Amino acid sequence: MVEDKLVDRLDQKKDKQRIKRKRKKEERMATGGVFDKYTTENINKLQVKGIIKEFVGIISAGKEANVYFATGENGQPIAVKIYKIDPQNTKWMKNYIIGDPRFKKIGSSTHKIIYTWSKKEFKNLKQLLRHGIPVPKPIMCVDNVLLMEYIGAPNGTPAPRLKDVDDLLNPFEIYEKIVQYIEEMYLNAHLVHGDLSEYNILMWNGLPTIIDVSQAVSTYHINAPVFLKRDIINIYNFFSDYIDKDDMDSVEITYGKILQKYHSQ
Ligand SMILES: Nc1ncnc2c1ncn2[C@@H]1O[C@H](COP(=O)(O)OP(=O)(O)O)[C@@H](O)[C@H]1O
Ligand SMILES: [Mg+2]
Repeated sequence: MVEDKLVDRLDQKKDKQRIKRKRKKEERMATGGVFDKYTTENINKLQVKGIIKEFVGIISAGKEANVYFATGENGQPIAVKIYKIDPQNTKWMKNYIIGDPRFKKIGSSTHKIIYTWSKKEFKNLKQLLRHGIPVPKPIMCVDNVLLMEYIGAPNGTPAPRLKDVDDLLNPFEIYEKIVQYIEEMYLNAHLVHGDLSEYNILMWNGLPTIIDVSQAVSTYHINAPVFLKRDIINIYNFFSDYIDKDDMDSVEITYGKILQKYHSQ
């Protein structure tokens, strides 16, 4: 009898271990199984707390980060951006952190720099949202794991990037809106995106949503005007395929207008 119970208990234990292993395997498959120990721990913690219910699939695998489609606390779709702890990325990232008055201490380890980088994206999203710029609502940032509103169809098909939209119905309106957002970012949120292009704008319900704001810097950053000009050039170039150049202000004019307004604030 006692032996039977013991065997039962051992079987139960084995089953539990098997389920645990299976879950871990599924987890690894959903997240690509490419993360280091700390990242895996952070993901586990968020799952144990129920903040992330389930990883459904991967939306994008990039050099610096992967983006996943997942379900959140209330089963709602969320996007999870996980930055890779990769020393290769920290060198250029530093240029966008140093000189930003919001980040005085960044540390020197790869971990610390990447954690600051994700926190920077989280803070930038909050700052932009506060000033009415359409960006995904940030939910939480734990070290290198950033949770935010998911933009797209609830079935998991993410909103297309501006670059991937085949039939842009009202290019002039979209162009004007994006230039307006560049200006509002600079004048009101005191931020410049720094990597704005058709790759970092999602189109949903006919409207642009700005994403990928980790590199966005304060307008007090020494290179802010350079980044501003680059953003305007990218947008101008993209839309010049759709719109007669005579109907758009030149890059110089748009750039000059924004800086003039900024300095007369
Ligand atoms: N909140 C989001 N909702 C839906 N899709 C997203 C979201 N954030 C990012 N994506 C998708 O993931 C891709 C990569 O995200 P992004 O933030 O641009 O990272 P990176 O370019 O640094 O890899 C985007 O092009 C977009 O397709
Ligand atoms: Mg991007």
